[in-house]
Amino acid sequence: MADRLEGRTALVTGSTSGIGRAVAAVLAARGAHVLVSGRDDTRGRDAVQSLVNAGGTAEYLPADLSAASGVRELADAALDLAGTVDILVNNAGVFSFGSTAGNSEIDIDRMYAINVKAPYLLVQALAPKMVEQGSGTIVNVLTGAAHRGSVTAGLYGSSKAALLLLTTAWAAEFGPSGVRVNAVSPGPIRTEGTANGAGLDAVARALPARRLGEPVEVAAAVAFLASDDASYIHGAILPVDGGAIAA
Ligand SMILES: NC(=O)c1ccc[n+]([C@@H]2O[C@H](COP(=O)([O-])OP(=O)(O)OC[C@H]3O[C@@H](n4cnc5c(N)ncnc54)[C@H](OP(=O)(O)O)[C@@H]3O)[C@@H](O)[C@H]2O)c1
Repeated sequence: MADRLEGRTALVTGSTSGIGRAVAAVLAARGAHVLVSGRDDTRGRDAVQSLVNAGGTAEYLPADLSAASGVRELADAALDLAGTVDILVNNAGVFSFGSTAGNSEIDIDRMYAINVKAPYLLVQALAPKMVEQGSGTIVNVLTGAAHRGSVTAGLYGSSKAALLLLTTAWAAEFGPSGVRVNAVSPGPIRTEGTANGAGLDAVARALPARRLGEPVEVAAAVAFLASDDASYIHGAILPVDGGAIAA
């Protein structure tokens, strides 16, 4: 039963939607107390209600991760509420695609604030408690665009490549204290955030899997890495991409 998560508190950023919401559902179904987070209160409360209806326990912590103050408030609220966060899933992220010339300074700052700085500050705030208790897991959500350059994904891919590097750096830093840090790297997944994404189906058709992925398929991988089933796995980047890594 090493996949069970009873007695553990999980903070899942960006769990009002898409992949994060599916992660929250799978972690709650395995017994974790889940702290749902995002900016949209209606979607946040709805997510919590659906976890509770399914037999889990959850609470909603609103947060805007685009500002450092919002990130720190979220970390403080999570620690106030739960005492410690045993599982941190850095899922919240923004993605946009375009030419280098087309990205404004505001676009650059926003992408890096949410995709890199927010996970960094959360780990800075929450990892010390994990270290103190000698256990904890962190799972970062990357993207295929972090592994190779492509014409329109330089800004987005580079932000997630930074998080990829941090995954291995944090695994090295915190592993000796009993804290495991890993990542999943999703391929094209149909979510609220990608619902209008032109070309996603065409990308999916070219994959070995020949289809888009479902949020729950990413969630299952996150839950595995967060659980004791993955007890000897540190610093791994698990592709959940329909075989894009092999195509
Ligand atoms: N879908 C894909 O094909 C795909 C592929 C590879 C990687 N990913 C990665 O997977 C993660 C989730 O993607 P998704 O497709 O599930 O996206 P989504 O449906 O757009 O969900 C994004 C989540 O992030 C939250 N969020 C966005 N900006 C935020 C902010 N400033 N402060 C706090 N929360 C914020 C949103 O919450 P609120 O709206 O409530 O603020 C929402 O819960 C992202 O990191 C993305 O880069 C996705």
